[in-house]
Amino acid sequence: MEADQHNTESDKRAIIVAGGTGKLGQRIVWHLRKQRAEVRALVRRGSNKEEAINFLREQGATVVEVDFNDPVGLANACVGGACLVSAVSGLRDVIVDTQTQLLRAAMEAGVPRFIPSDYCIDYTKLPPGSNRNLDLRREFNQQLDKAPIKATSILNGMFTDLLTGQAPVVLFGMKRVVYWGDAGKLLDFTTMEDTAAYTAMAALDPHTPRYLRIAGEVADVMDLKNAAAEVTGKPFKLFRIGSLGAFGTMITVTKTLFPAENEVFPPWQGMQYMHNMFSGLPKLNPLDNNRYPGLRWTKVREVLATRPR
Ligand SMILES: NC(=O)c1ccc[n+]([C@@H]2O[C@H](COP(=O)([O-])OP(=O)(O)OC[C@H]3O[C@@H](n4cnc5c(N)ncnc54)[C@H](OP(=O)(O)O)[C@@H]3O)[C@@H](O)[C@H]2O)c1
Repeated sequence: MEADQHNTESDKRAIIVAGGTGKLGQRIVWHLRKQRAEVRALVRRGSNKEEAINFLREQGATVVEVDFNDPVGLANACVGGACLVSAVSGLRDVIVDTQTQLLRAAMEAGVPRFIPSDYCIDYTKLPPGSNRNLDLRREFNQQLDKAPIKATSILNGMFTDLLTGQAPVVLFGMKRVVYWGDAGKLLDFTTMEDTAAYTAMAALDPHTPRYLRIAGEVADVMDLKNAAAEVTGKPFKLFRIGSLGAFGTMITVTKTLFPAENEVFPPWQGMQYMHNMFSGLPKLNPLDNNRYPGLRWTKVREVLATRPR
């Protein structure tokens, strides 16, 4: 596939998106185009993500195939950009290494702003070692903080969408909402779509602070229980599995028995994320939901209502 032509001289408003073929990246591009932004999506040379690439083109994004290991080519692809938005996903080779290449390219090309692929709970408040994937983000962001570029991280808690899939918290079959530790801990949820919409607004905003914190809904497990009951019309109960200390032990055992270190989201990493959330430490505060008018925040119950049946 040939790279699209991009005009590096006149296209000064371009938002450069890395990871645009991904789930979140496609939605960020969609929202950027809704705002009529010029979008240049950097796609891995030789990518076979035809459907995603076609989607990006249909939205009016300029798709540029690049070798992410070629610093000159990568910098050329960034020339004229107002902001580089990263939505890449992976382990060290992506979150630290590829994003470092993107950061260098953005600086070389004179792109003034960088949004890293964070989109998570507030890892700045978590002890290192408590979440492998968030440690990688912390490590990359330490580099970002030293770089002469304006950085903004979007922190959105957990994608609400996970409540109907990967996150074993609302158990529809058993009519239970399970938790560890203290039932009163407040948890931040934002849908992927709302995170993408907000990220697009932040990409177009030249005055963003270092961190933007958002939550479509702040809920404790009682709120989840009530939302599940409301959408199913059936009573749900809370089920406390154990203390956070016991959860920590379970994570260690799971990691030992099923290491899957090369997977981005092995079960033990998802457990680390839940442990972090139930600890209350990464609670997002204050929230920047109201920074951009016109955004609508999807509630937990709306997402639970879309559960597969
Ligand atoms: N808060 C939450 O609950 C939550 C949940 C899920 C995800 N997230 C976060 O959201 C972000 C995006 O996740 P996603 O689910 O949209 O990921 P995804 O669908 O797996 O997409 C990942 C993107 O990264 C690109 N990529 C991967 N490795 C690359 C490399 N070495 N060089 C260049 N590009 C590379 C992929 O390109 P190809 O298409 O070419 O493979 C793709 O565009 C990540 O930071 C992820 O951790 C947060």
